[in-house]
Amino acid sequence: MSSVSKAAIAEALSEARARTLALVEPLDDEQLNRVYSPILSPLAWDLGHIANFEELWLVRTIGGREPLHGDLGRFYDAIENPRKIRGELPILRDAELRAYMADVRERSLDVLEGVEISAEVEDPLLRDGFVYEMLLAHELQHNETMLQLLQLVEGYELPPEIEAERSSGSDGEEMVAIEAGEYEIGASNRGFAYDNERPLHTVALAAFEVDRTPVTNGAYIAYMKEAGAEPPLYWRREGDGWIDTARGRRDPIDPTQPVVHVSWEQADGFARWAGKRLPSEFEWEAARPHLNGVGHGWEWTSSDFLAYPGFAAFPYREYSEPFFGDEYKVLRGSAWATHPRVARPTFRNWDLPRRRQIFSGIRCARDA
Ligand SMILES: [Fe+2]
Repeated sequence: MSSVSKAAIAEALSEARARTLALVEPLDDEQLNRVYSPILSPLAWDLGHIANFEELWLVRTIGGREPLHGDLGRFYDAIENPRKIRGELPILRDAELRAYMADVRERSLDVLEGVEISAEVEDPLLRDGFVYEMLLAHELQHNETMLQLLQLVEGYELPPEIEAERSSGSDGEEMVAIEAGEYEIGASNRGFAYDNERPLHTVALAAFEVDRTPVTNGAYIAYMKEAGAEPPLYWRREGDGWIDTARGRRDPIDPTQPVVHVSWEQADGFARWAGKRLPSEFEWEAARPHLNGVGHGWEWTSSDFLAYPGFAAFPYREYSEPFFGDEYKVLRGSAWATHPRVARPTFRNWDLPRRRQIFSGIRCARDA
């Protein structure tokens, strides 16, 4: 019995691609090639990388076929090519880029026709369609990075279906009490999850309390006023108040909306000012069923991005392993820019503590 159908995979792949193309639809080639920020890739790189990753896994690894453009793939290797140099690489651009994306997709679907993806297949890449789920997640995660860059594009309008994901405010000071105990953390062996979410293991937690909803713009403004803290990215002073200048707009800040685009340092500073602390990622996962307002912004946790006990890299070392250590902090939840397929309760996002280009917010906790 197959738990995933090829038709469903093909449909999901085509939905993800439609979302990718909808994001760049209003832009011209010059905008796709332009470097807007040293910490974000030009959009043309993301598009070529999405297609190249698909070619690597679905066409070459699974299908055993030759690449369309020789060793072009080395320019799309995310580890070999840091973001600040991606604009200068001899990558595919314009019509050639679009043709490559379409050609790779045609080949992937052709390979899919001939493979076995049931729960019984020996190859862990194909079992339950793992590699296809990984490809979908990859493209949709890049959609979110593309949305980070699109915040820098003056006059850019979000596709309506993504605009609709932006939530309509949250408030309330209420905290939820979570009992001390042993909690199961991580993803089981079935279905798709990244290697860093595995293995499933038990973590003992002391009793704690956590905010039911994320910290609002209003609360963050109070913190800035009282503690002289820095504003979130894209905020500018206007008169007595603040405006949001992302995408070249001048939107008044809605005090009831969850705050986003704050660094870990700002999140940690806010929590201390409020007499609380950031939750650990295990506390966040244990409390997840009780939290409201998840999905507006990623939530910084106090945890470093570390391997779970018994971690095994799969299917490739570079997704998680090079980032383990005390340099990166874990974010949990998801943002309005995150596709629901990516937002598993066990999903671990990570970034440097000073970074604010991600859609990152705050939720506080405290010891019980
Ligand atoms: Fe990638």
